Amino acid sequence: MSLHTVITGTGRYVPSRVVTNNDLEKRMDTSDEWIRQRSGIIERRHADPGTGSSDLAIEAARRAMAAADVDPQEIDFIVAATLSPDHYFPGIGVQVQSGLGLDSIGALDVRNQCSGFIYALSAADQYIRAGTYKKILLVAAEVQSSNLDYSDEGRDMAVLFGDGAGAVILEPGGPEDGALVLSTHLYSDGRFVRDLWMEKPSPRDNPTFQVEFFDQKRFFPKMEGKNVFKNASQRMPEAVRAALDRNGLTVDDVDILIPHQANDRISQMVARNLGIPVEKVIRNIDRYGNTTSASIPIALDEAIETGRIRKGHLVALTAFGSGFTWASALIRW
Ligand SMILES: CC(C)(COP(=O)(O)OP(=O)(O)OC[C@H]1O[C@@H](n2cnc3c(N)ncnc32)[C@H](O)[C@@H]1OP(=O)(O)O)[C@@H](O)C(=O)NCCC(=O)NCCS
Repeated sequence: MSLHTVITGTGRYVPSRVVTNNDLEKRMDTSDEWIRQRSGIIERRHADPGTGSSDLAIEAARRAMAAADVDPQEIDFIVAATLSPDHYFPGIGVQVQSGLGLDSIGALDVRNQCSGFIYALSAADQYIRAGTYKKILLVAAEVQSSNLDYSDEGRDMAVLFGDGAGAVILEPGGPEDGALVLSTHLYSDGRFVRDLWMEKPSPRDNPTFQVEFFDQKRFFPKMEGKNVFKNASQRMPEAVRAALDRNGLTVDDVDILIPHQANDRISQMVARNLGIPVEKVIRNIDRYGNTTSASIPIALDEAIETGRIRKGHLVALTAFGSGFTWASALIRW
């Protein structure tokens, strides 16, 4: 009998410090009105100095394990997605492993930025289906607030991003055991590397860290906002359609759509493009901003907690981000 992957628990953790649009107005030439109109964001969370992505990941992981009623010692593999690891290397997977006091199980780090959660889900799904692992902790976490350009020059990026983490537990099983992962779909187009990236540090430079790079602000993330907007609005619906086609389903079958919370206008355009009523779309960017790889699992966990997602629902996930990469997944709750 072929194995399937089920989600048996979810969890989220965000830092307690709320940063409102008004707070940002004090640091750069921006306004609450501009940020709300262009992105739908009202506030976001920022981690305090000394807190890294791994710290947020560990808290989210604890909550997901509790929800799944899984003892930490039962976890046999970790997949961790982040674009903001605590260190240039190693990734945060090993910090999650040791922070949770787990045995010396494998820890895979995924670097697919805003698409990271679905890429990680896809990898974990293959391991479960192959029978390799039986209880995978998948965690996505970001601390982006510490490396944004809070001057007027960087205001397009600085207002968008927030910190947070989300986690899920994945096990083999059937519909009676949890939410069934039907399929995952991954895409990329590396021609657009420079349209959404953090250029430095780069080992191509020798030495890698040069004072003029700091002066030129090349250690901050940068983006071509309009091109990101255009591609995100197009690619996410394409990916959802591909997932529906693969499973012999249509957009009318979708009960809940969780797009990566990049920008509320993008989420609304994705829904419109697909012909999915906006009431079926999970939108929490107003309170968290764009938490990159963590945005989907945070939204998923909230939607379960608030009863938006119920047993039997068909849930479509889709993401778009740096690379460009984009992805989708269908889950039967
Ligand atoms: C960033 C984004 C909101 C900008 O919206 P936009 O309608 O494209 O706005 P523009 O880039 O045309 O900028 C309009 C003006 O607002 C200004 N502006 C940019 N950020 C601003 C801010 N935070 N506050 C006030 N003004 C701002 C620009 O400097 C520009 O000024 P100018 O006309 O004097 O040059 C939009 O491009 C976007 O959401 N892109 C996708 C971002 C995203 O999702 N990234 C992550 C993907 S995973």
